[in-house]
Amino acid sequence: MNVALKTEILPADEAAVTAAARALSEGGLVAFPTETVYGLGADATNPAAIARLYQAKGRPAFNPLIAHVGDIAAAQAIARFDAPATALAKTFWPGPLTLVLPKTPDCAVADLATAGLDTVAIRIPAHRIARDILRVFGGPVVAPSANISGHVSPTTAAHVESDLAGRIDLIVDGGAVEVGVESTIVGCFDEPILLRPGGLPRAEIERVLGRALVQPPADNESDSGQPLAPGMLASHYAPRARVRLNAERLEPGEALLAFGLGAISGIDATSMVMNLSERGDVAEAATNLFGHLRALDSKGVCTIAVMPIPDEGLGEAINDRLRRAAVGRE
Ligand code: TXA
Ligand code: MG
Repeated sequence: MNVALKTEILPADEAAVTAAARALSEGGLVAFPTETVYGLGADATNPAAIARLYQAKGRPAFNPLIAHVGDIAAAQAIARFDAPATALAKTFWPGPLTLVLPKTPDCAVADLATAGLDTVAIRIPAHRIARDILRVFGGPVVAPSANISGHVSPTTAAHVESDLAGRIDLIVDGGAVEVGVESTIVGCFDEPILLRPGGLPRAEIERVLGRALVQPPADNESDSGQPLAPGMLASHYAPRARVRLNAERLEPGEALLAFGLGAISGIDATSMVMNLSERGDVAEAATNLFGHLRALDSKGVCTIAVMPIPDEGLGEAINDRLRRAAVGRE
């Protein structure tokens, strides 16, 4: 963007909710906390606002956005729910689950936000401030993670500021988020598909569905040839540093992203170490993941070595993000 905006930063209170809703209705871009990560909101029915949003993030417009709504009635106005989708929505909303569903004929979400697909991604966030903003604004809000495209998602208002100050109108500062990784995305097609592991563990979803979630096919296309998960670019969520996975020893000059208190060789007094969870808890590790990656990256290290993390619960989402952070740098 050529002209720098003055980005206002407000603590998350009633006045901030009013200011956020007003800015959204005027076509503005507002970053706000959700329980997963900070989102960058725009009026989902306003193509000009959505165009500004893609530009502010440097995001390719073929990568569609999630529409955030306040309640199930608002979700049903924009998408068709089959029985499994209804069961998932009733069980897990508000919460860290996004459903990809067929649009209704009069879906108010602009085509630009859905990249021209005949499906729309929807979620009801659980964060109090996000819900207040949605209620006062009164319509669907598209909100990708509030970071420069391809960068690590923000889990504090300071992360948003460092990526997007001068490019957006308002940041509502609600402190650190609770979950720390983005929502789990399930495509409700003929068979429910896990499009992105995330803040709601796969096992909880499978328990409600009574069946296993399918993985997207290798060519990432539905039978009709539509991309199933257009945003799942291989290299994504990337810090500047190279990321080395499943490290069993620390090489000279590397920083360590540790998990648990297991021993690892190669560490000395000068080694830079941050621990995702000393007690080996994957939920705690998810909360710390993006903040620790940003912190190590800001120290200018060349390589971040990451200890193995179990694939259970939120570990599946953590390992997914770490693999994407490592792509092209190994
Ligand atoms: O937790 C979250 O989901 C956060 C907070 C802010 O809600 N949002 C978020 O949005 O992670 P974003 O834009 O960073 O990721 C949305 C993902 C992208 O990978 C996009 O391709 C996918 O959702 N998506 C959106 N609409 C889709 C659709 N119709 N079909 C398949 N994938 C879709
Ligand atoms: Mg994102």
